[in-house]
Amino acid sequence: MTSICVAPGKVNLSLRILGLRPDGYHDISTVFHAVSLTDEVRVTRGGPGAGRVVTTMGERVESVPSGDANIAARAALALARVAGMDDPDVTIDIIKAIPVAAGMAGGSADAAATLVALRALWGLATTDDELTGIAASLGSDVPFSLLGGTAKGTGRGEILTPVLTAATLHWVVALSEGELSTPEVYAAWDRLAESGHVVASSADVDGPLLAALRHGDPREIARHLVNDLEPAALSLRPSLRGVLDMGLELGALAGMVSGSGPTCVFLAESRDAAISLAAELAGAGVARGVRHAVGPAPGARLVLSR
Ligand code: C5P
Repeated sequence: MTSICVAPGKVNLSLRILGLRPDGYHDISTVFHAVSLTDEVRVTRGGPGAGRVVTTMGERVESVPSGDANIAARAALALARVAGMDDPDVTIDIIKAIPVAAGMAGGSADAAATLVALRALWGLATTDDELTGIAASLGSDVPFSLLGGTAKGTGRGEILTPVLTAATLHWVVALSEGELSTPEVYAAWDRLAESGHVVASSADVDGPLLAALRHGDPREIARHLVNDLEPAALSLRPSLRGVLDMGLELGALAGMVSGSGPTCVFLAESRDAAISLAAELAGAGVARGVRHAVGPAPGARLVLSR
C-alpha cells in the first residue's frame, strides 16, 4: 500500500521580526506565499526501509539528513504516537525539487506531505486541525506547508490567517551554492540588533501589502516586499548582494533573499518577463541554478492512495 502527497515551497512576501522571545524563538509577522516548486513524498507500508528510514531523490539529496534526523521521519513518529501506534512500519521516499536548506521551507513541505500521506495510508480519522497541531510541534513553517496559498503568519509563524489575493505571481528563483542554517541567520539578526544595525519591526504594518495582494497588481506588490532577515543573511553571505543587484539590473520588479536564505527570489511582471529574466540570470552565471515558479500554489495534497 502506498500514498503519495506533494507539498509546496514558500517565499515570504513580508517577514518582519518583532523581537526575541524567552523560548529562543522570535515573534514574527509574515506573509507566506506558496509557490509551484514542490516536493513529492511517497509512503509505503513495510518496504525496504521499513522503520522510519527516509530515502530521497532529486535536488541536493546528499545534504538531506537520513533516518530519524529527517523532519519527515519525525512527522511519521509524531503522527504514529497520536494514533496510538508503537512503531511506524513505513518507508518514506522523498523526491526533492525545493532547494535544500535554502529558505524555502523544503523540510517543512516534506513534513507536511508526510503527515497527509500517512493519514491516508493508515486510514486515520485525524482532523485537519489536529494535523495542524502536530505540524506546529514539528516546525514553525510546517502548518503553512499544509495550508498553502497566501497567508499571514504570527507567533513564530505557526498561527495562520488566509489572505485574499487576486494575483498570480511569477517568480524567478536563483539557487545559491551551499546552505544557510535558519537558527544561525536568526542569531545573526540578534547580533545586528544588539549593535544597532537593525531594529525590530512593529506588528500590523502589512496593510499596504495586503491591499496590493487584493488588487493583484505585481508592480504594486513589488513595492511592499520586505524581509527583515535579509541583512542577517547578507552579513553571513555578502556575495548574495551581487545576485540581488544582477536580478534588478536585468529588469526584476523586486528581488530579495527568500526567508533565511541563501536562495534569492525575484518578482517578474508576467510569465514572459519571468522566463526571459530566468534565462538571462542563468546566462549571467551568478547562481547555481535558476527556476521559474508561480504562486500562490496549493498546500500539501494527496495525489495517490492505494
Ligand atoms: O521552528 P523551526 O524548527 O523551523 O525553527 C528553526 C530555528 O529557527 C529555531 O530553532 C530558531 O532558532 C529559529 N526561529 C526563530 N524564530 C522563528 C522561527 C524560527 O528564532 N519564528
